[in-house]
Amino acid sequence: METARIGVTGLAVMGRNLARNLARHGHPVAVHNRTAARTKALVEEFGGEGTFLPAETAERFVASLERPRRLVIMVKAGAPTDAVIDEFAPLLEPGDMIVDGGNAHFADTRRREAALRERGIHFVGTGISGGEEGALHGPSIMPGGSAESYEALGPLLEDIAAKVDGTPCCTHVGPDGAGHFVKMVHNGIEYSDMQLIAESYDLLRHAAGLAPAEIAEVFRTWNTGRLESYLIEITAEVLAHTDAATGKPFVDVVLDQAEQKGTGRWTVQTALDLGVPVGGIAEAVFARSVSGHADLREASRNLPGPARGTAGDAGFADKVEKALYASKIVAYAQGFHEIQAGSAEYGWDIDSGAMATIWRGGCIIRARFLDRIRAAYEADPSTPTLLTDDHFAEALGDAQDAWRDVVATAARIGVPAPGFATALAYYDSLRADRLPAALTQGQRDFFGAHTYRRVDRDGSFHTLWGGDRTEVTS
Ligand code: 6PG
Repeated sequence: METARIGVTGLAVMGRNLARNLARHGHPVAVHNRTAARTKALVEEFGGEGTFLPAETAERFVASLERPRRLVIMVKAGAPTDAVIDEFAPLLEPGDMIVDGGNAHFADTRRREAALRERGIHFVGTGISGGEEGALHGPSIMPGGSAESYEALGPLLEDIAAKVDGTPCCTHVGPDGAGHFVKMVHNGIEYSDMQLIAESYDLLRHAAGLAPAEIAEVFRTWNTGRLESYLIEITAEVLAHTDAATGKPFVDVVLDQAEQKGTGRWTVQTALDLGVPVGGIAEAVFARSVSGHADLREASRNLPGPARGTAGDAGFADKVEKALYASKIVAYAQGFHEIQAGSAEYGWDIDSGAMATIWRGGCIIRARFLDRIRAAYEADPSTPTLLTDDHFAEALGDAQDAWRDVVATAARIGVPAPGFATALAYYDSLRADRLPAALTQGQRDFFGAHTYRRVDRDGSFHTLWGGDRTEVTS
């Protein structure tokens, strides 16, 4: 009986395209779906692309896999993933691998990995980015799990991943939940990047007075420079699109309430737990949240604000470009800080430069910029922040006047720009000689005897605020 090198169960569009990608690369792939009609449709439509071994039952699916078995599950994150694991794990043997290619929370992946490890089964939580097209033509792949499982899976995954300069956009991220953690942060950065682009559009429209089609041209130009990226490219496409039904710009007929499936929120929740400041990602999540509160917005519509009008000068678009680039540096610096903190917390030993390398192609945040980040980590693998890398520090210095001007203009004319503003505040906080946190400490000590440390002596201190205000060592 012919055996498959790998199997995919869950044949919605991502699973189907991943299976096709494997088959197109010459890997015989077993395919299975809860409802067999999907399996049949896949083979009928795309059977000519390679070798598919369709299976109607879980038993037949598992039996068709060569050993050690490589089984990829592409189902909705959460309870469906646990259900599929419960269905397949009893059919597997020690040494077999279950790859979860969904957007699972890394804590769930850690739990599942630990439980399956006890049974000798490798559970490989794998971040896959690039949407439907990426899954078919080459995604960015972020596998976690054991190093041993990567030996068996890595060559296959690297084969189907996107390539940049011949380098596959796939590498072993680290043990247990490391792959899903990094995918989560990727999505957090994606949120931040999208929010900054949205703010740029809003300012070009309301401060510079440009029409959507004109803004599309601005983004097209930007896409030939240092901001070149998939997200900038598709922004130009969306802005240039006209609604067929009304003849209006497409962006004007779409309800302005952004949705989210949760990975950006997880990035922020996790950052809070790790104590990592990711204001850019948080503001991006909150901006979507604000947009969705229709009642709150309706109730507030008549609050006073400045007259909008066109406040931007002729060079305003260039200033926005600089603000966008600078804020983008901050967004990535914050995301990478979170990856480093997660890596330290969970003992993953994640190579940040390698993450930048595998994000250069295939994924939603793919960008020319990622090569700069790769180079920054190559120059100094243990740098605490990307902001101080020579290239980025120079770019921030060059951008800062424009950046401040854009944030000030937004505030003056009443266009919300939380992403730009928080990025600038982060930059100024990090470079500040002294922060008002000293006052915060004083207040905490005053009302709660929470103590403080001094700049000139070691130890913890408390001032007797309710008494004679002498200082005591605590
Ligand atoms: C990717 C995307 C993908 C998905 C997002 C959308 O890397 O391919 O990030 O995972 O499109 O999860 O997220 P929201 O629905 O939360 O915007």
